[in-house]
Amino acid sequence: MSKWLEGRVIENRRWTEALFSLRVQAQPLPFEAGQFVKLALDVDGERVARPFSFVNPPQAPLLEFYGVVVPEGPLSPRLARLSAGDAIYLSTNPSGFLVLSEVPDAETLWLMSTGTGLAPFLSILCTDTPWLRYRNVVLVHAARFAKELVYRELLDAIERKRGGERFRRVSFVSREAAPGSLSGRIPAAIGDGRLEAAAGVQLRPESSQVMLCGNPDMLRDAGAALAARGMKKHRRRTPGQITVESFW
Ligand SMILES: Cc1cc2nc3c(=O)[nH]c(=O)nc-3n(C[C@H](O)[C@H](O)[C@H](O)COP(=O)(O)OP(=O)(O)OC[C@H]3O[C@@H](n4cnc5c(N)ncnc54)[C@H](O)[C@@H]3O)c2cc1C
Ligand SMILES: NC(=O)c1ccc[n+]([C@@H]2O[C@H](COP(=O)([O-])OP(=O)(O)OC[C@H]3O[C@@H](n4cnc5c(N)ncnc54)[C@H](OP(=O)(O)O)[C@@H]3O)[C@@H](O)[C@H]2O)c1
Repeated sequence: MSKWLEGRVIENRRWTEALFSLRVQAQPLPFEAGQFVKLALDVDGERVARPFSFVNPPQAPLLEFYGVVVPEGPLSPRLARLSAGDAIYLSTNPSGFLVLSEVPDAETLWLMSTGTGLAPFLSILCTDTPWLRYRNVVLVHAARFAKELVYRELLDAIERKRGGERFRRVSFVSREAAPGSLSGRIPAAIGDGRLEAAAGVQLRPESSQVMLCGNPDMLRDAGAALAARGMKKHRRRTPGQITVESFW
């Protein structure tokens, strides 16, 4: 049984018709960057809850969550309609293993995401940890349309702070031609070398750790493409290179 605390929406930023970010004021919640918490609303007398990854780093004054409207979903369309001042419930037990304390050291950290799977990587990138432990950090974000490549200002600020040489950004846009982004999907570009070429960094088991987040089909297909390069899931007892979190 989850315990709940009540938070207050401070801002609902709409990026597109389907994409939104909620800023929420709530009691401090201890968590590690990359983890998630359940967000909930009361719908027809029942509390409807879903996991959402923190976008903000630990100890930020406001909590932030990045979501997409799944039109037929019970919670996401309601979250997208919230306004400043509205109440929202948060579970008191952040959790999840898509965290750098579970990932071994390496030369290069690859963070690969589809859609809202970007969220936990923003939190991680806002902390010092990746920059202290990895020489290169490559963020990969795949979206259907160019307008869905969100949080560019935040990423630009991180790049200015950490240096463009160490922070490589690669985007994919799959359903229209978009200058500056690769076409197609992440797994195919792992397979044919386009991803490495765009990042300017080698994707090898000896030098890389890969975190994957988002669409479960991407996790499966990217996992297979990485396996073809000699990588395997990282487990505490059997170390490897791949750490994943599926959003559904
Ligand atoms: C560990 C974890 C962390 C998550 N973090 C986030 C997050 O930071 N932001 C976020 O938007 N969602 C996140 N999700 C998904 C989220 O919990 C909900 O499933 C989503 O908001 C839709 O809720 P819903 O009740 O409207 O529909 P649901 O009944 O939960 O989902 C219906 C269907 O919508 C699709 N779907 C669900 N989530 C997504 C998504 N994010 N993008 C595209 N299609 C989706 C799937 O096909 C799913 O079967 C996370 C899920 C998990 C397990
Ligand atoms: N995004 C929108 O404009 C929009 C609008 C309204 C509602 N929604 C709802 O949101 C959900 C979809 O959200 P989304 O677009 O963020 O997520 P998504 O469907 O997971 O797509 C995000 C990216 O992941 C790619 N992808 C899908 N399967 C993959 C695989 N097996 N391997 C590698 N990459 C893969 C997609 O490529 P492909 O394009 O090749 O599939 C796309 O580039 C749906 O429920 C939809 O109803 C979305």
